[in-house]
Amino acid sequence: MGWHACVVQKGAMDMAVTYREIAETDDRKVRKRFTSGEPVIDRYFRQFALENHQRRLNTTHIATSEGEIVGFVTTVVGSLKLPDELYERAKLPRYPMPVLLIAQLGVHVENRGQGIGSALVAFAVERAERLRETHGCMAVTTDPLNESAVRFYASLGFRALPLVADPAVHRRPSMYIALAELANVDRIVPP
Ligand SMILES: CC(C)(COP(=O)(O)OP(=O)(O)OC[C@H]1O[C@@H](n2cnc3c(N)ncnc32)[C@H](O)[C@@H]1OP(=O)(O)O)[C@@H](O)C(=O)NCCC(=O)NCCS
Repeated sequence: MGWHACVVQKGAMDMAVTYREIAETDDRKVRKRFTSGEPVIDRYFRQFALENHQRRLNTTHIATSEGEIVGFVTTVVGSLKLPDELYERAKLPRYPMPVLLIAQLGVHVENRGQGIGSALVAFAVERAERLRETHGCMAVTTDPLNESAVRFYASLGFRALPLVADPAVHRRPSMYIALAELANVDRIVPP
């Protein structure tokens, strides 16, 4: 699955996109030019993403093209207490379930609709599958910022978690995609 580099459509032109970890060498001015159109996402990226990554409080990976940052995703391991009926339906032990959380996701406003967002989500899913093998992981989760983000994740197969067990932890409704359901993962992986 080729998330390291892929080609997306930019108008009639192909655009090469490379995916890698954020790094100290990423120029501050370049980082400041990244604009997703959502101030809360941009503020996180500009002010906290690199430092948090270096301290390994989470990890941030960026998509770059022609020296510019066109997207980023921040992931972190977490655990999720499920609604009672889900434990029963799936015959799960009643512990919080291990998950990989997509904590932040943004695509540059000028690069929306080119498959970069879904490639970054596919990357997070790949990481979760590796985590599943090494430490256990049940799902990829996210707390979408707004209704538009909910529709984006839904288009990739994410579902709303019906009831949020701990509203103090999950302020917004959570969405998830269970790794066992990812037989159709190719759908969200770039060509
Ligand atoms: C949401 C966001 C990450 C999507 O990134 P993107 O690169 O434009 O998305 P993609 O091009 O990969 O789109 C993938 C699919 O989702 C769909 N999609 C994208 N945004 C959508 C939206 N707002 N509503 C409904 N569907 C959407 C696309 O139509 C596409 O479906 P298709 O393959 O059937 O055409 C991007 O618009 C963004 O950064 N928004 C601002 C920040 C934000 O809201 N981040 C999410 C925080 S939780």
